Amino acid sequence: MSKGKQLSVSAIKNGTVIDHIPAKNLFKVISILGLDKFDHQITFGTNLSSTKLGLKAIIKVTEKTFVGDEVNRIALVAPEARLNVIKNYEVVDKYNVQVPSEIVGIAKCVNPKCITNNEAVTTKFKVLNSGEIALKCHYCEKITDQEHMEVM
Ligand code: CTP
Ligand code: ZN
Repeated sequence: MSKGKQLSVSAIKNGTVIDHIPAKNLFKVISILGLDKFDHQITFGTNLSSTKLGLKAIIKVTEKTFVGDEVNRIALVAPEARLNVIKNYEVVDKYNVQVPSEIVGIAKCVNPKCITNNEAVTTKFKVLNSGEIALKCHYCEKITDQEHMEVM
């Protein structure tokens, strides 16, 4: 932690800190990770100032380490998110989320006529990454942009 910096959200003893979430997408991240159904202690702060993101949010999940691709799902709405693994109050690992090249489920296709919106077909998209993430539907090829992105 840089000298002289105040923590807006208390330090945690063990767990994971997800930093650099765009403030407007905090609740999408919570929903994608299923944190709303989680019984561990969770604290978060939002509308904190960040030089990189404007307003950012931060989530601290106690006694939890994310494994495998679990956390990369949030790349859709927080491509610059940074994870800090905390053990005994120390940051022992830091990594960025990886933007997956394809995603299955999670998001809805923007096209009301798409088969995924009319039949029991799981959505599947190619991930387009040009700064902001957009999704190209595998079935109807329509592009769902950030503004229209609805996470399930
Ligand atoms: N943190 C925490 N509890 C701890 C240690 C760290 O909640 N026991 C949080 C800090 O508040 C910070 C993040 O974990 O949001 C990363 O900590 P650190 O690397 O010390 O902070 P910075 O130097 O600001 O890292 P970065 O530049 O990656 O934001
Ligand atoms: Zn579609």
